[in-house]
Amino acid sequence: MKILMMGPPGAGKGSQSAKVVDHYDLPSISTGQMFRDAYKNGDPIGIEAMKYIKKGELVSDDITNEIVRLRLSKNDAENSFLLDGFPRTVAQAAALDGMLTKMGTKLDAVFNILSSNDVLFERMEQRRVCRSCDTTYHLKFKIPKECGVCDKCGGELYQRPDDTLESVKRRLEIYETKTRPLLDYYDKKGILYHINGMQPFDNVYNDIELVIRDL
Ligand code: AP5
Ligand code: MG
Repeated sequence: MKILMMGPPGAGKGSQSAKVVDHYDLPSISTGQMFRDAYKNGDPIGIEAMKYIKKGELVSDDITNEIVRLRLSKNDAENSFLLDGFPRTVAQAAALDGMLTKMGTKLDAVFNILSSNDVLFERMEQRRVCRSCDTTYHLKFKIPKECGVCDKCGGELYQRPDDTLESVKRRLEIYETKTRPLLDYYDKKGILYHINGMQPFDNVYNDIELVIRDL
């Protein structure tokens, strides 16, 4: 199974991807997470990427395509994977097609998680993430048992540096101009599924699962 999660920032791509990869035992390939991990580890790529991430800008296509190419070349991604947040530009979509053609495969489904801008702003403002295990919380809808502490590992919860109002606005602008056009690209391939991301977590997941079961 080869799946792609699309949607604007804060739509719930990461939350739903976590459930899907857990349930179907798929390798998760999230470019945003890979950049954050690289930054945490002090890798030059992560340090360079964080300059753009903080401002809500996209990291260059060259760097992004290369980290995905390297990740897809690992054995565990041969038969199945879930992509979260890649591709985001027409050039990245073309690069991904090239990588998949070389692997002799193609995407089975692209999920577009939809949400209103009001909900997206609120979600990113209220999001907190564990510094150690990256589990995501929401201060109203997924509340940690102890304030500021991860339920899973006891790690410290923090606010992502790109969840500032200014950065969120920029991320939404970029989504509209650079990423939204890809929906048409995947619709034409007949593999695009729209999912209402404004429902409670489990309902969103159920809608995704209904599609996956029929693939
Ligand atoms: P990335 O990490 O991918 O960020 P994003 O696309 O902006 O999306 P988010 O992670 O903010 O939101 P999400 O949709 O995953 O929502 P979540 O599940 O967390 O990328 C970050 C940056 O890296 C980019 O801006 C760019 O700079 C760079 N980058 C990454 N990929 C790149 C690429 N391909 N090319 C170039 N640059 C790239 O949910 C959000 C909140 O809402 C959470 O608090 C959650 O608990 C809550 N929530 C989720 N679902 C629900 C629900 N159903 N009900 C109530 N609350 C919910
Ligand atoms: Mg995410």
